[in-house]
Amino acid sequence: MFYSPKNCTFGVIKLTITQNKPETNVDIFDRLRKDLGPIGKHSASAHGYFTFPKLVGEIGPHMHFRGKPVLNWSLNNYIGLANHPEVRQADSDAAAHFGMALPMGARMMSGNSDFHEQLEQELSEFIGKESTMLLNFGYQGMVSIVDSLLSRHDIAVYDAECHACIIDGLRMHPGKRFVFKHNDRASLEQQLVRAQELATKTGGGILVITEGVFGMNGHQGIISDIVALKKEYNFRLLVDDAHGFGTMGPTGAGTTEAQGCTDGVDIYFSTFAKSMASIGAFVSADEYVINYLRYNMRSQIYAKSLPMPLVVGALKRLELLRSKPELREKLWTIVNALQGGLRAKGFNIGKTTSPVTPVIIEGDEMHATKLVYDLRENYGIFCSIVVYPVVPKGIIILRLIPTAMHTLADVERTLNAFDEVREKLNNGTYAAQESPLLTEAK
Ligand SMILES: Cc1ncc(COP(=O)(O)O)c(C=O)c1O
Repeated sequence: MFYSPKNCTFGVIKLTITQNKPETNVDIFDRLRKDLGPIGKHSASAHGYFTFPKLVGEIGPHMHFRGKPVLNWSLNNYIGLANHPEVRQADSDAAAHFGMALPMGARMMSGNSDFHEQLEQELSEFIGKESTMLLNFGYQGMVSIVDSLLSRHDIAVYDAECHACIIDGLRMHPGKRFVFKHNDRASLEQQLVRAQELATKTGGGILVITEGVFGMNGHQGIISDIVALKKEYNFRLLVDDAHGFGTMGPTGAGTTEAQGCTDGVDIYFSTFAKSMASIGAFVSADEYVINYLRYNMRSQIYAKSLPMPLVVGALKRLELLRSKPELREKLWTIVNALQGGLRAKGFNIGKTTSPVTPVIIEGDEMHATKLVYDLRENYGIFCSIVVYPVVPKGIIILRLIPTAMHTLADVERTLNAFDEVREKLNNGTYAAQESPLLTEAK
């Protein structure tokens, strides 16, 4: 039946709606012109400088930004594999040998290979889990893990600061989800009590989700505490260890290894985008769980398998990650020098216990952009800047990612520069400045 907005009839009352009604629906694209979203609204002044900057040159601590050399603290190349000669060789040999197309198709249909399975086997051994499945991207992978694990009867209980990929997976969950305060065991227990009550009624189960290392503040998730709660509550635990894999634990097997609780973590996830300096991801668990995921994760069933050069390149990276502990030791030398130095100078770096180094400064967005501009242009230091709405108003986070490729001289130079820009922030230099940077930045 055709519905006319001008003459709609409800029972015996005939309404004529003519006022304030557009003749037709709006064009979605009109909205896009008016509202670019919370980050996009700054694009006119920020694009190419604060957002979408181009770092040029060999990946490492010394690159070029807008034609000038910069000391770079913004890449997750934690153990320096991105430019390792053996990695570069393996990548180029594999690309020359296989090309980027192989294997064609999704893993389940035509995209499987011995190399994929070998990498899965080696990751399982390294992490200490029965089985592993490769994922073509971390983000989609996690969305899809959460989506495929949970039924509408299940309840998800997750840390408030979980990464967007976890949140987006949960957005697809038709059942209930309860959030607990970041790393707060008491809050988690409260939510577990609620979840258990509800799950008993729905006939579902409970999945707790947290991270190994939180990428913005460097906190380790309270994984071993959560595992201990399994004695009192009936749930499964999924951990995203994107920043912990390769950096944490005696062998680099991640935050679960560092906290001695790998067995209590039911599903371990990480990406190749950080320590492995590549693309792709993986999920490890008991064989029957991985087998279920293999046949039910939509992001993998309906998408192309990881290209061969990425798989062969990941095998080489994993070999180096395991056989060269000196890379991780060097990373931690730099981490300790940088974090120790910042703390000694009175900077607030929060409670990081990982390489992620947030420098928390009070100020508004305008101060932040001037300070970062000063750091980049006058001190040649490039780091990421995190402002509202990612962090609360009035707070700026300068995020530094130390790597095994940095030197103690790089740390020294950075500490001195931070001292000076803090002084300028405190004595009002930035507040008094015009803002030529924003127009100049374009
Ligand atoms: C915690 C966390 N999970 C997942 C991802 C997504 O991984 P990928 O870049 O492989 O999509 C990231 C960021 O890259 C991350 O920081």
